Amino acid sequence: MSASIIDGKALSEAVKSEVSTRVQALKARGITPGLAVVLVGEDPASQVYVRNKAAACEKAGLNSRVIRLDGDITEDALLDIVRELNTDNEIHGILVQLPLPRHMNSARVIETIAAEKDVDGFHISNAGLLMTGQPLFRPCTPYGVMKMLESENVSLWGAEAVVVGASNIVGKPMAMLMLAAGATVTLCNSKTRDLAAQTRRADVLVVATGKPGMVTGDMIKPGATVIDVGINRTEQGKLVGDVDFESAVKVAGRITPVPGGVGPMTIAMLLVNTLEAAERSAA
Ligand code: GUN
Repeated sequence: MSASIIDGKALSEAVKSEVSTRVQALKARGITPGLAVVLVGEDPASQVYVRNKAAACEKAGLNSRVIRLDGDITEDALLDIVRELNTDNEIHGILVQLPLPRHMNSARVIETIAAEKDVDGFHISNAGLLMTGQPLFRPCTPYGVMKMLESENVSLWGAEAVVVGASNIVGKPMAMLMLAAGATVTLCNSKTRDLAAQTRRADVLVVATGKPGMVTGDMIKPGATVIDVGINRTEQGKLVGDVDFESAVKVAGRITPVPGGVGPMTIAMLLVNTLEAAERSAA
C-alpha cells in the first residue's frame, strides 16, 4: 500500500484564491492590504523566499514592499526602519526574514515589530496569545499544516500527535495548535533519547528539523499522517524534506511531498495573516 499524497500546491491555490476575493472586497472600501518584507544581507535561500512572498502578494492583489538592507547594517538602523513601518498606514504586515546576521539580536528585532502587524506571529505577545488559546496571528507554517490537516479531514481530537523539532518558528507553535485542537502532543528535540519510539506512536507526525531524511519509514506507524516541513537541498541540487519519502510513502496513510507540500501553504497563510491584519485595521 502507498500513502495518499497531500497536495499543498493545490490547497495553497484555493486559499490564495479566497484571499484574492477578500482583498477585492477590502479594496472596494479603499484599503489595499500591504506587506513589508525586510531582508538583511545576501543569504541565497532567504532571497528566494522573499521573492516568492512578494510575488504571491502581488498575484493576490496585496501590495508588497521589499526592503533590502546590507548585511553590515547596524541593529539600531534596522530597528529604526521597523519602527517607521510600525506607523506606516499603508503597511498592515511586517516580516523580517530570518535568519538575521550574527551581529543582530533577533529577539530584540522581532519584539520591535508592532504586535498587530506581526504577520509571522513571532512576537512574544503573539506567542503568548497562542499559548493561552487566544491567537491573533498563527505562525504561517504551522497554520498551513493545520489547514492541510483540516482539508484532509484528519481529526486531531484525542489523536497522538508527535512533533519533531522544537523551534519557535515551527515546532513549538505547531504543538500549541494541535494541543488546542484536542491532540495529545509530544514535542521532541535533538536530545530525545529514543526518537523512533516516539514517532512510532504518532497518528499525526510533523517533522521540522532541517535534517534531510531524518525520519524513515520504519519510524512511522502504519497509516499515520506524515507532514514534512523540511526543505533541504542535496549536493546534487535536489530539494528533499526531513522525511525519507521513498520509505515513508510505503508506510504512511497520507504524506506531504517536498516540494509541493508545506512550502506553498506557508506563503498562502502569510497572505491570510496580512489580509486579516488589514481587515482588523479597517474594522
Ligand atoms: N525564515 C524561515 N522561515 C521564516 C518565516 O516563516 N518567517 C521569517 N520571517 N523568516 C523565516
